Amino acid sequence: MKRIFTLIATVLAISCQAYAQNSENMENFENMENGKTLVAYFSATGTTERVAEMIASATGGKLYEIEAAEPYTSADLDWNDRSSRSSIEMNDGSSRPAIRGGFENVSEYDVIYLGFPIWWNLAPRIINTFLETYNLDGKTVIPFATSGGSGINNSVNELKKAYPSVNWQSGKLLNRTSETGIREWLQ
Ligand SMILES: Cc1cc2nc3c(=O)[nH]c(=O)nc-3n(C[C@H](O)[C@H](O)[C@H](O)COP(=O)(O)O)c2cc1C
Repeated sequence: MKRIFTLIATVLAISCQAYAQNSENMENFENMENGKTLVAYFSATGTTERVAEMIASATGGKLYEIEAAEPYTSADLDWNDRSSRSSIEMNDGSSRPAIRGGFENVSEYDVIYLGFPIWWNLAPRIINTFLETYNLDGKTVIPFATSGGSGINNSVNELKKAYPSVNWQSGKLLNRTSETGIREWLQ
């Protein structure tokens, strides 16, 4: 009789554990659905923005544009001109272009997709401004980028070195991608 009770108690305990695990998984899923995912991006000419919109749509995450307080003109973006604003910023590791407005609730988000165009094989310095404005220590950050051909690894490695307390996930270059490609990557 005692054995039967022990058996029933064990089966019940295992069922409860499985139920709890399942509820936790559902909660994680609902958190993503409820906007605990942030898709923060900087885009000077709209390419990264289109990708960010697709990621937000696929994850149900909140979209946040990291906008420069002083928008970049096409002259600012001329990488052939060594004295253009972008060249000056990228040549100066301590440059931190100001962000327009603010986003107060970053701490509410557990997962942050962080998108940017590759500039000089790096993330634009405004991404450093973002990372230094908000405390992302321990947050899961998934970088993504667009480029004219450069890979994402160098820029992500530099970010990892500069902000080691962030829980960096491997980044993804999303050039010429589609909604389907993004869903496949997210899975
Ligand atoms: C200042 C500047 C520097 C760039 N440096 C690189 C680079 O090093 N490698 C690369 O493949 N593309 C480079 N590009 C091209 C951009 O990464 C690419 O066009 C990107 O998709 C633009 O994204 P956006 O439209 O979101 O700004 C550079 C563009 C600019 C404006």
